[in-house]
Amino acid sequence: MNNEMPWWASETFWKKTAIWVTAFMFVVLVILTLDTIPQITAGSERVPAYAVINKHIGYEFNDERNMQVPVIGGDAPLFGKKLSEEDAEALVSHGKKITQGRNCMGCHTLLGNGSYFAPDLTKAWLDPGWSSEPEREALMIAFLMNPEENARSFGSGRVMPNLHISEEEAKAVIAFLKWMSSIDTNGFPYNFTVIDKES
Ligand code: HEC
Repeated sequence: MNNEMPWWASETFWKKTAIWVTAFMFVVLVILTLDTIPQITAGSERVPAYAVINKHIGYEFNDERNMQVPVIGGDAPLFGKKLSEEDAEALVSHGKKITQGRNCMGCHTLLGNGSYFAPDLTKAWLDPGWSSEPEREALMIAFLMNPEENARSFGSGRVMPNLHISEEEAKAVIAFLKWMSSIDTNGFPYNFTVIDKES
């Protein structure tokens, strides 16, 4: 009987394998990270630059991709004020910080991250419930400042609590939501209904 251990059962072989696999996967991770960063940075093909909040954002079905895709249209400055890229970035980033500070993700999802008590906010700007564009801004401000009295709940019976958001904060949040709605999310969230093209 041969008592010698086969090469693949030796401890050194598995130690070496573990080291090589870990090292290889680390390199793969670095490559994937470097590949991803430019694709998720504002100003790239799928994630528009912040000044997109100066434009009309449509959401249209794309036959080729078989999904809904944001379509950036003509001028439609948010709150009637055209912002430079720097000012737009500052406003969107202020809005993002408010959503973090007020823990909107404790109830909502943003780009799919968060909780499932309340609707996903990725395309909230495009929600048909806000009616036409000029009214939408005013309705969103009124809703965010006093969600209990402007509840939209759509029969779910769930009401958003009043988070005592000021008008200035509401505007920043809306800028953040408008910018986020312009991101090409491969049709996420699925089944989101579109606002009509004219508005
Ligand atoms: C305690 C849970 C809760 C928190 C926290 C919360 N919401 Fe809501 N939100 C809801 C619920 C429930 C609804 C749906 C009911 C409604 O529309 O009246 C809603 C609806 C909304 C809508 C309308 C969505 C649409 O597509 O029409 C927006 C916009 C929104 N919330 C923004 C926010 C923002 C911004 C924050 C953080 C500042 C926030 N919410 C924090 C519960 C919450």
